[in-house]
Amino acid sequence: MTPTEAKKEIERLSVLVNHHNNLYYQKHKTEISDYEFDQLLAQLVKLEEQFPELRLPDSPTQRVGGTITKNFETVVHQYPMLSLGNTYSQEELIDFDKRVAKGLGNESYEYFCELKFDGVSISLIYENGILTKGVTRGDGVRGDDVTTNVKTIRNVPLKIKGKDIPERFEVRGEVFLSRSAFNQLNKEREDIGEEIYANARNTASGSLKMQNSAEVARRKLDCYVYYLLGENLAIETHAEAISKLEKWGFNVSATYAKAGTIDKVFDYINSWEKKRMDLPLETDGVVIKINSLLQQKKLGFTAKSPRWAISYKYKAESQSTQLKAVAYQVGRTGAITPVAELQPVLLSGTTVKRASLHNANEIERLDLRIGDFVFVEKGGEIIPKVTAVDLSLRDKKSKPITYITACPECGTPLIRHEGEAAHYCPNEKGCAPQITGRIEHFIQRKAMDIDSLGEKTIKQLYQLGLVKSPADLYDLTKDDLARLEGFKELSINNLLKGIDESRKAPFEAVLFALGIRYVGKTVAEKLANHFKNMDALMSATYESLLEAPEVGEKIAESVVNFSKDKDHRKEISRLQQAGLQFTLVEKKQNKLSNALDNKSFVISGVFEKYGRDELKELILSHGGRVLSGVSGQLDYLLAGDNMGPAKRQKAEKLGVKILSEKEFEQML
Ligand code: IVH
Repeated sequence: MTPTEAKKEIERLSVLVNHHNNLYYQKHKTEISDYEFDQLLAQLVKLEEQFPELRLPDSPTQRVGGTITKNFETVVHQYPMLSLGNTYSQEELIDFDKRVAKGLGNESYEYFCELKFDGVSISLIYENGILTKGVTRGDGVRGDDVTTNVKTIRNVPLKIKGKDIPERFEVRGEVFLSRSAFNQLNKEREDIGEEIYANARNTASGSLKMQNSAEVARRKLDCYVYYLLGENLAIETHAEAISKLEKWGFNVSATYAKAGTIDKVFDYINSWEKKRMDLPLETDGVVIKINSLLQQKKLGFTAKSPRWAISYKYKAESQSTQLKAVAYQVGRTGAITPVAELQPVLLSGTTVKRASLHNANEIERLDLRIGDFVFVEKGGEIIPKVTAVDLSLRDKKSKPITYITACPECGTPLIRHEGEAAHYCPNEKGCAPQITGRIEHFIQRKAMDIDSLGEKTIKQLYQLGLVKSPADLYDLTKDDLARLEGFKELSINNLLKGIDESRKAPFEAVLFALGIRYVGKTVAEKLANHFKNMDALMSATYESLLEAPEVGEKIAESVVNFSKDKDHRKEISRLQQAGLQFTLVEKKQNKLSNALDNKSFVISGVFEKYGRDELKELILSHGGRVLSGVSGQLDYLLAGDNMGPAKRQKAEKLGVKILSEKEFEQML
């Protein structure tokens, strides 16, 4: 392809993909199938790789990321990113209103109310309509340049269209993980035995600073904007700024409202107190701003925050109590979780003795010290959390907590993986909670399902030196179990029966049970289906692993490392000898007819009656095969609406019969 042709094609594909992105993310509509969309994007990526200089500034390929940033550059904010004064009561808000009234003399004024979104603030710089920089708040004066990561956020416009676009302007907003994206992310982590994230805000913050932007893209961050800054913007009120932002295609939460008086502000606050729980993200209060920009200017700023705005925080039930100590827990993967040990206190009807501190960053953020009086809250999380320190009660002689550098269980020096907040104990094979944690993972319901074995028994079995790895379970005898506290004839038989029955667990469950890093339930199923047996999987190369569905570099590398390990191989061979299932038992397709025997199909486009998976099932159950690409060997191209023209042309050229949905039904 000549550069001129490439330029045209890149433009065509960019416009097309941007159009479909826009339809999907802004209007929640689709015109083409996911597969076709992926094809378009892949074509564009390929062309941009060949002709990098032709990549458009708003190329949709930036949404999927791929760049690695080792060190984020520091950027000085043109306008410092200030914080807001906080209020917690009606009285404090009335005081704010009085200060405003005084500051503005006799002028009348109105407020603009928004919710306070609990995310990470971001500054977005646009030059000539193009997003040129995304910068974190940092210390307010300078932040980190996280542009490549910000560009993966689907509702941050890469290019603004319209006539009255200022040459340069800045938009401030909040990057967040929606409740559903956060839960989804945690579900996936749970599946692969990784520690789950404790809260959406910190996870969003960590995600923005990840080095691999492709991983950021997968996290599905979101963004709401609430502030427009720049020179000569031709606007007089904040309300106009907001409607401009909406018009330019920014994502503004439709929860704002004007309020003519402070009483109307209270109405707004009250009306959202409960309703905010139904919003897609966590909110912790209301931000109240003076609407007129001229009046904002008149009121000005203090050193820390604007005098024209304030935040009102909703009350979370909170209690003050003393921090006695910090304990450190070690999980199955070696991840360390610091836990606050508290003077017991009653909170929302339950006595709280412990609270999660998440990781070293959180302890540092709170500037926590032993003996401090801290506030604990039950927020959106199940485990209570320490939200702040009561500095007025701090012992002057206290010292900041120094985070442990060695594992509290085995003494091994801790390590920290790049881009992760948690510390890890690398002593996988000798650290007790990691060993017992792996056995707990092995016996869980989704894995070997040995429900007669609990956490306490596993610990005892380990302490008695009877079980150090899952394979040891299958060597246990009646005499061994008789040594366990409280174990009698019945419980011994029960446990042995449970262990024996687990021998029948299918290969995919065994594979998941092994606890290979990043191999969750779903990935284990895919691997089992693809490789059919353990020997094939254990001898698979990195490249051949990548060919399996849903297997990316991280998983492939993890499986290869697992297979290489001598101890793992020995363990597998012991489990094989114990009679566990290491071969896939293919589920017999309930064959409905022989109508499509020896016929091959490619499915493309969108169909009226059936989803693509349903069609696939139908073809298989009538004896046919489903292929992924059009070739000379193909019998039928099953064509739905919006099928790509290239595919149709290819099929026509190769003489492949093109079937409509109706014609296909008739074949059955
Ligand atoms: S306006 C000069 N509006 O709260 C003030 N901030 O405590 C500009 N925030 O750093 C901020 N929701 O990250 C504003 N609707 C909203 C907000 C909001 C959340 C965050 C923002 C800011 C912090 C200030």
